[in-house]
Amino acid sequence: MKTTSNKPENQEDQLVLILTNDNSYSLFRKDIGETYHSKNGAYTESMLVFINNGLMPLLSQFNPIAVLEIGFGTGLNALLTHAMAPEHLIIYDAIEAYPVPISMIEKLQYHRLPEMADFAGFFRHLHQAQWEESVRVNDFFTLTKFKNDFLNFKFPLNHYHLVYFDAFSMEVQSELWTVDLLKKMFDSLKKGGVLVTYSARGPVKRALRELGFKVERLSGPPGKRHVLRATKE
Ligand SMILES: C[S@@+](CC[C@H](N)C(=O)[O-])C[C@H]1O[C@@H](n2cnc3c(N)ncnc32)[C@H](O)[C@@H]1O
Repeated sequence: MKTTSNKPENQEDQLVLILTNDNSYSLFRKDIGETYHSKNGAYTESMLVFINNGLMPLLSQFNPIAVLEIGFGTGLNALLTHAMAPEHLIIYDAIEAYPVPISMIEKLQYHRLPEMADFAGFFRHLHQAQWEESVRVNDFFTLTKFKNDFLNFKFPLNHYHLVYFDAFSMEVQSELWTVDLLKKMFDSLKKGGVLVTYSARGPVKRALRELGFKVERLSGPPGKRHVLRATKE
């Protein structure tokens, strides 16, 4: 079975809570020296890369919207997806091999982020949801979390409208930023579907173009010149 080499020995010991520059919390994984979000602002980064570049332009086109998150982690992207479109039907699938312990999740205090006070219960529910089960979190949001390695996940074909590709960086996870894995995402998107990611590295851009995506380089959040949006035309 193909797996990546990034399994933490003991997840709890490896995770450190960090405060980022916009006053939102994130996590740092000591063993690989990587943060879950930008140190320049976790909330700001997620809002720009995934919500404003990915979700918002699709709301007028698709309802329901089927989303796949590659790297569920803290659940921040799932929280923002519902909170920014609370009455839009969202079918949200997320893959995560190394779930963050609930004791750590509680320290993130994401209900204190702007406009998130009403979603504290929703956020808790996201983390309490059983793995591998389709869970109706509320009338508008259905979540299925897959506890799996990205490389072993069976991506359904022609299924999603939106993919959030949020793995750790290419420096520590080069095996994930490949044409092979990106092709699985391309094939799992419907026509008109979109992949968004925080990386705008040359090899990623080239691989996406090679696969047939229309690739846009958009302004990045603080500390990052560009990010990508790739559309399956
Ligand atoms: C950059 S973090 C982002 C997490 C998340 N999107 C968030 O907002 O918190 C990358 C996530 O991918 C997970 N991950 C890393 N390698 C993985 C793999 N090979 N298969 C599945 N999950 C993986 C990590 O455990 C981590 O939660």
